Amino acid sequence: MKQIYILTPFPKMVDAIISESILGRSEKKNKVNFNIINLFDFADSPHKRIDDYPFGGGAGMILKPEPIFRAYDKIISQSIDDSKLKVIFPTPDGKILNHKKTLDLVETQNLIFICGHYKGIDQRVRDELVTDEISIGDYVITGGELASMVILDAIVRLIPGVLNCYESAETDSFSEQLLDCPHYTRPEIYRDLKTPEVLLSGNHKKIEDWKKNKKIKKTKDRRPDLWDNYKKLDE
Ligand code: 6GU
Repeated sequence: MKQIYILTPFPKMVDAIISESILGRSEKKNKVNFNIINLFDFADSPHKRIDDYPFGGGAGMILKPEPIFRAYDKIISQSIDDSKLKVIFPTPDGKILNHKKTLDLVETQNLIFICGHYKGIDQRVRDELVTDEISIGDYVITGGELASMVILDAIVRLIPGVLNCYESAETDSFSEQLLDCPHYTRPEIYRDLKTPEVLLSGNHKKIEDWKKNKKIKKTKDRRPDLWDNYKKLDE
């Protein structure tokens, strides 16, 4: 089973999100096992400090290396094969997450997430332990927990059997390199707003053509960068 370790000073926050989401459901279905690890458990007594002032000065505190290295050593010693392990550090200066990267992480047996805080993690952790530095977009949020949960959600929903209808993940935006088409459900007419005729026609070929055209139009309009890639793939 996929083992996922989350190293964090805020275990309750992580637990709350996992237990109330698709992530928790994936664990109930025995697709993954989450191990939430409290960094304070690996800090030195009596003060249990996990952060400290930056050498050379500057604003903000830096997560100390020892609790993270110790937690990592314990995970490695317990079980897992580190040839099938990636250590992810979510950070705004990482590589921006995309669909291809989520597929790569779905294939990786074991994942460790280190939740840092902006400015703040000793570089030696990044140099020695981290294999993948990942950003969730060009903006900054306050901590690594929410970013880790975003990355994890994107991974876990692609594990076969996690979603009730796996097909729905396969046709999402990005799975086919195009943005998704519009969708309609009952009622057929709502406040004089009509469902496109073709979707009610029962003609599967026509419906598929309509969907494809909508996907192409939306992708061209909104994401010329994706459209250029798509065209290259088609050639
Ligand atoms: Cl991964 N972390 C934080 N704190 N901010 C971000 C981010 C990650 N990705 C984009 N902004």
